[in-house]
Amino acid sequence: MRPAARRLRLGMKALVYRDFGGSDRLELTDLPEPHIGPDTLVVRVVAAGINPVDYKVREGYLRGLIDTSLPAVPGWDVAGVVEKTGLDTPEFAVGDEVLAYARADVVQHGSLAELMPVPVRTATRKPDGISFEQAAALPLTGLTALQSIERSGLGDGSTVLIHGAAGGVGSFAVQLASLRGARVVGTASERNHDYLRDLGAEPIAYGEGLVDAATALAPEGFDVILDFAGGSSLDSTGALLKAGGRVVSIADPRARTEFGGEYVWVRPDPAQLGELAQLVADGALRVELAATYPLDEAVAAFAQLEEGHTRGKIVVTV
Ligand SMILES: NC(=O)c1ccc[n+]([C@@H]2O[C@H](COP(=O)([O-])OP(=O)(O)OC[C@H]3O[C@@H](n4cnc5c(N)ncnc54)[C@H](OP(=O)(O)O)[C@@H]3O)[C@@H](O)[C@H]2O)c1
Repeated sequence: MRPAARRLRLGMKALVYRDFGGSDRLELTDLPEPHIGPDTLVVRVVAAGINPVDYKVREGYLRGLIDTSLPAVPGWDVAGVVEKTGLDTPEFAVGDEVLAYARADVVQHGSLAELMPVPVRTATRKPDGISFEQAAALPLTGLTALQSIERSGLGDGSTVLIHGAAGGVGSFAVQLASLRGARVVGTASERNHDYLRDLGAEPIAYGEGLVDAATALAPEGFDVILDFAGGSSLDSTGALLKAGGRVVSIADPRARTEFGGEYVWVRPDPAQLGELAQLVADGALRVELAATYPLDEAVAAFAQLEEGHTRGKIVVTV
């Protein structure tokens, strides 16, 4: 018999959960390699970004909105190298370095694994000058920030209030709004105020005193309010939004139902993702990495994320 180390390995390591619940459901295990579809790539994962939605799906909070097939591997953000191409994927070749917000219709084969099936409609090439860790941190939150800004109509000279400015989405939104010529006021706890200044925002604390602090900075009110924090953030909207101003939330449907604005659910968009990646490669968009964990410590990565106070992004390297 051949020595164990030289036996052909057909499976892959992956983080899975077998039923809905807390992070105690997560285990590192061996799974069969993913099948490849006609318009899918199999990507060897180098780095995976994790997002609050990953644990919300695992907890079962999004049942009814998104189907999950158990056992499931979490993770929609991926950066890696194309290992196999599908029957009709002329855009990519084996060996290409790619990144993707690889959300399929059913949660099953995520990025916290050695291999991931990635629909071509979600993927773009990774430019030189951006690391795999930066690339994995970018897709879901970068696209959310960009699509929220586009839906808000924000432009040169707008004054914008960003709730949750120091998190994954907020950190990109502050920079993208500044790049579009907006004046940005962002909410975060005190420990993140210097960080927000570095990104280009005027920081204020959330909670009690927010309306006074925001009004002191923008007595005429805000043209745009972007809500990336949810909870009670939109309660101050009536006091802070200019007449004719626009509210966009990714966490509170009241943006639409009460304030006539938009509720955004981020969509994969490889062209937009390519533009964001190029901004990073050009040094125009900063990716703040709060922490990087190896795959066998991914449970600790989720524990940090679930505290709800990540500055920027957490990435798992595979
Ligand atoms: N609809 C969509 O398409 C979509 C897309 C992406 C995300 N989301 C949702 O949007 C939310 C934010 O996502 P994310 O990835 O940015 O999360 P995240 O990175 O985990 O957010 C952490 C940040 O939230 C800040 N924060 C916590 N409570 C706050 C409050 N009351 N007011 C202002 N800031 C607060 C923290 O700042 P401090 O440490 O300073 O407190 C921290 O910087 C999550 O609920 C997520 O599920 C929705």
